Amino acid sequence: MAGNKVYRASTTAPVNIAVVKYWGKRDAKLNLPTNSSLSVTLSQADLRTLTTASCSASYSDGDSLMLNGEPSDISGARTQACFRELRARRAALEASNPSLPKLSTLPLKIVSENNFPTAAGLASSAAGFAALVQAIANLYELPDSPSELSLIARQGSGSACRSLFGGYVAWRMGDKEDGSDSMADLVAPASHWPNMRALILVVSAAKKGVSSTSGMQQTVATSGLFQQRIAQVVPANMDLMEQAIKAKDFAKFAEVTMRDSNSFHACCADTYPPIFYMNDVSRAAIRAVESINAKAGRTIAAYTFDAGPNCVVYYLEEDAPTVLGAFAGVLNGVSGWKEDSVSAQSGAKLEDGIASTLKDGVSRVIMTGVGEGPLKTEEYLVGEDGQPV
Ligand code: DP6
Repeated sequence: MAGNKVYRASTTAPVNIAVVKYWGKRDAKLNLPTNSSLSVTLSQADLRTLTTASCSASYSDGDSLMLNGEPSDISGARTQACFRELRARRAALEASNPSLPKLSTLPLKIVSENNFPTAAGLASSAAGFAALVQAIANLYELPDSPSELSLIARQGSGSACRSLFGGYVAWRMGDKEDGSDSMADLVAPASHWPNMRALILVVSAAKKGVSSTSGMQQTVATSGLFQQRIAQVVPANMDLMEQAIKAKDFAKFAEVTMRDSNSFHACCADTYPPIFYMNDVSRAAIRAVESINAKAGRTIAAYTFDAGPNCVVYYLEEDAPTVLGAFAGVLNGVSGWKEDSVSAQSGAKLEDGIASTLKDGVSRVIMTGVGEGPLKTEEYLVGEDGQPV
């Protein structure tokens, strides 16, 4: 008998930002994509979700989830799918080893916190579902590999499957109808190319207009351009991107990143009615990156945009003086800008029009880099008494 004992386990999980974008579902129920995708996992020092999963016979209200201090709805099909699959795996372990406590039968209490504002539109669902799945897997002591767990996280949110790994991560679309081969795998660990940096320009903290889930469904249903993207553009970009990462070829990495972001947003514009995620500030960020590269005479910075106006600029640590130097005059004083990281003198100045649009439009910056996958931790958000702490 499990009695009233509280079982608990904690993990942190990272955010990832795709350089070849996932956009389109071939099966909405199993959350199977129309194309493979590839992302860079960002450092948890700056962006991470901490989640404690606990279970106890004393939890009388059934399963529950607290997110950033607020009760969160768990009745949705996605969360239910994650709970069901994890419980089934635990139940299989219990069936083969009767001495194990029957945790699969106990109510779950999950408590989760982000170290960044959820509303900033920063891929919080990816870190959130990755942390939820990893925390319950730790609680249940499942032997499953990160790729196997990614099959479950995928059903919570597609991009979450890539947050089960650190470094450079591919989500292989697979071709099986049951989705059993649609999972993430490691292209290269963070240590392979550790000097990859990311400057995130937070353009708007407002909730995005069209959610990615619904936006991509509309694109699949109406865009002709999208058919070419999934048949030709993405398969070629996946190959080029993997080669660029393996060879640590930043110029190639950057070109594919920018072309793929452009292709994704072109498909959004080709959706009927059209979807616009980028705004004038986003476009100023593109011009800034182009100007930095033109003045450097080589490609040292790459922009990419998800389903919102925020810009992520990838660059290498050794080029920080030039890349950050160009932004320094504009972003000095903006929340998150590390003044001591670079001086405004070290980079070429941005044109006045670009500089003023960015100055007015960027509300916050996050300066981070490539990082590790989920990490088990002894920090708990649920006490030994089962109460949130
Ligand atoms: C533009 O993973 O949020 O960020 O599977 O419906 O939850 P669901 O979608 P989600 O879509 C992310 C789309 C993207 C590109 C990417 O991360 O690859």
